[in-house]
Amino acid sequence: MVGFGMIFDETYRPVFERRCHDPLYTVETGPVYLHLSAVASRTGERVSRYVASTTNAALHQIQSFTGVAAIPDLLRTDCHVVCVATPDDRHFDAARSALIAKKHVLIEKPSVLSLVELDELTQLASENGVLAKVVYHKLADPDHKKLRTLYRDGVLRHVNNGYCSLLEPKSISGGQFAEWITGRNPATYVAVHYLKLVDFTFGPEWSLCRVSATGQRGLVGTATGPTWDSVQLQVVYRHPDLREAAFDIHTSWVTPDNFPGYVDQEVQFRFDNGVWNAHQRKRGVELTVENRTPGELKNTPNYHYNGTFLEPWGERSQRGYGIEVIERFFQEVAFVEFGGPAADRVHRLSAMRALAYNDLSADRNCVAIVQALEAILGRAATGTPGCVVNVNEAFGGLVLYEPGNAAPLVLYRNRV
Ligand SMILES: NC(=O)c1ccc[n+]([C@@H]2O[C@H](COP(=O)([O-])OP(=O)(O)OC[C@H]3O[C@@H](n4cnc5c(N)ncnc54)[C@H](OP(=O)(O)O)[C@@H]3O)[C@@H](O)[C@H]2O)c1
Repeated sequence: MVGFGMIFDETYRPVFERRCHDPLYTVETGPVYLHLSAVASRTGERVSRYVASTTNAALHQIQSFTGVAAIPDLLRTDCHVVCVATPDDRHFDAARSALIAKKHVLIEKPSVLSLVELDELTQLASENGVLAKVVYHKLADPDHKKLRTLYRDGVLRHVNNGYCSLLEPKSISGGQFAEWITGRNPATYVAVHYLKLVDFTFGPEWSLCRVSATGQRGLVGTATGPTWDSVQLQVVYRHPDLREAAFDIHTSWVTPDNFPGYVDQEVQFRFDNGVWNAHQRKRGVELTVENRTPGELKNTPNYHYNGTFLEPWGERSQRGYGIEVIERFFQEVAFVEFGGPAADRVHRLSAMRALAYNDLSADRNCVAIVQALEAILGRAATGTPGCVVNVNEAFGGLVLYEPGNAAPLVLYRNRV
């Protein structure tokens, strides 16, 4: 692991705690045990606390590396896979070094913040014969899988527009993320879930056209500074029949901590022949326990993502799509390495690379939008709001225009 914070605790920890004694299994690979061997983090404090508190003896052996040499030190160990779960703008260097060291790599969303970085990682994965993948666990949400199934099967036809929102509480921006939040925005952090959902569910037979965004400041940072409280992003695609589809994605990390929708989420999509609408506080569980909600226990929990359960057969478990998608990645690695004769590894590798739901090579549209978004917000923070980024036009792949200025600024020259 590179990074050992909130997302490690929610989704990776349960995988490692279980799969060191209860292996993953497929017919092709046989049993595959996962051992968390080493962690690189900023301070090592969370690693020390975890090792001191876990009763799982297998996890007492974790090597913990910190400081400037943490990642090179980790890469000198004999690990096969590196998972990068550092803050959004600290993924690239770790992933790059790990791929050069011929480790399979899994990166938390957003994979990287620019297409140049994505190009380099994709190339390195190819040269070094390893997988480079990104976690988009909302694709494994049963509701989103059903949405995609209905679209693929032609039940819902031709998406025209959509609205998605994800609102996080102030406790996240003001506490958990305080160390790295300066200069950052909630859209890069969470709109990417919906960017990928839209791109994966309704693509790939369409093209990304343009990106615009605005937002608000003043709570997490100053009203004129580079740190954003909330962001409204609009992304426009063009279908092969030339009809455009527009998606508005609203995100924030400043909702009051006692708002009942902890990480409140809503999506709606309009089709030629239908509407899909999912709202966490309407579709889900609502729970109140005196003195325990909404703090320790959540009013509107999403147990499909992650929950601890007493199974009907007596076992205590932690499961959900957040965990399932991490295990699935390890199964893909195991399939490449142990799923058949060594001579066929190259075919297994290309089969796993062809999975567009998580391969970095299929993350181009999402990274393009993130790069455009970051450039637009950067311009707004320095006094030029209202920029638009056009995709794959005459001057290049990503081209930014300021209001009132016809001169293009090329953010990325190649085709997206
Ligand atoms: N899939 C999802 O839905 C989801 C949800 C949440 C987050 N994420 C993603 O996961 C990533 C991490 O988020 P988080 O919520 O886990 O953040 P977090 O709780 O703030 O934890 C960040 C971790 O990274 C470590 N770190 C920071 N800078 C580092 C560096 N330069 N080198 C090595 N380690 C470093 C920190 O070390 P210390 O422990 O020493 O501070 C900490 O362990 C982000 O990219 C985020 O977007 C994904």
